[in-house]
Amino acid sequence: MLQPTYPVQTPRLNLRPLASTDLTAFHAMYSHPEVVRHLTWEPQGRIDTRELLARKTRHSTLAEPGQTLSLAIVLVETGEVIGDVSLGWLRGEHDNGDVIIVLHPRHQGKGYGAEACAEILRLGFEGLRLHQIFGACDARDIASASLMEGLGMRHDPGLREREHLKPKWDRELVYSMLATEWRRR
Ligand SMILES: CC(C)(COP(=O)(O)OP(=O)(O)OC[C@H]1O[C@@H](n2cnc3c(N)ncnc32)[C@H](O)[C@@H]1OP(=O)(O)O)[C@@H](O)C(=O)NCCC(=O)NCCS
Repeated sequence: MLQPTYPVQTPRLNLRPLASTDLTAFHAMYSHPEVVRHLTWEPQGRIDTRELLARKTRHSTLAEPGQTLSLAIVLVETGEVIGDVSLGWLRGEHDNGDVIIVLHPRHQGKGYGAEACAEILRLGFEGLRLHQIFGACDARDIASASLMEGLGMRHDPGLREREHLKPKWDRELVYSMLATEWRRR
């Protein structure tokens, strides 16, 4: 069970559950061509992003495998929602999770992605006691691959092309970190 106290704070960011009032910021992000370029789906309009947001507001805690916690990334300095980051608790034999992050292009390349993901790894490993956390990206998505490498996640070539549901992706790269690696970092 993971029941964070909100907002979860990092030096420059607050992470808190997404709300329906985040729709404008959320739509600006998910309708941006640069953002969806390496995502596995493309929202077509405001109704799609509203549905996506509704799915992402379902959980503010993680109570069982199969659930995903999605948090708004809020810039402390301005109060602006600049992205969202999700921790999924995967179904399966081991307590594994995965992380997905999206930032508005205006706020990319400033270290916010690394700051938010490091906090998600902490919540996953120290809060939920996960065994392993995965992240995946298109092989052409240098920003995501660099982000995961910078966090100390390791590329696992054995887990390449785990699934074939991502027609937009050239080749899937899977990264992961074990709890033991998190503790040793
Ligand atoms: C992936 C994403 C979240 C990265 O966030 P970010 O805040 O821009 O990344 P950071 O500034 O924290 O940078 C992290 C590392 O990646 C590197 N990096 C970031 N963007 C890069 C780029 N375009 N090219 C090369 N390296 C890049 C940084 O130099 C940094 O490396 P370092 O640890 O060696 O210093 C952001 O690019 C994004 O939202 N992309 C669109 C959505 C998306 O595709 N998400 C992934 C879904 S699978």
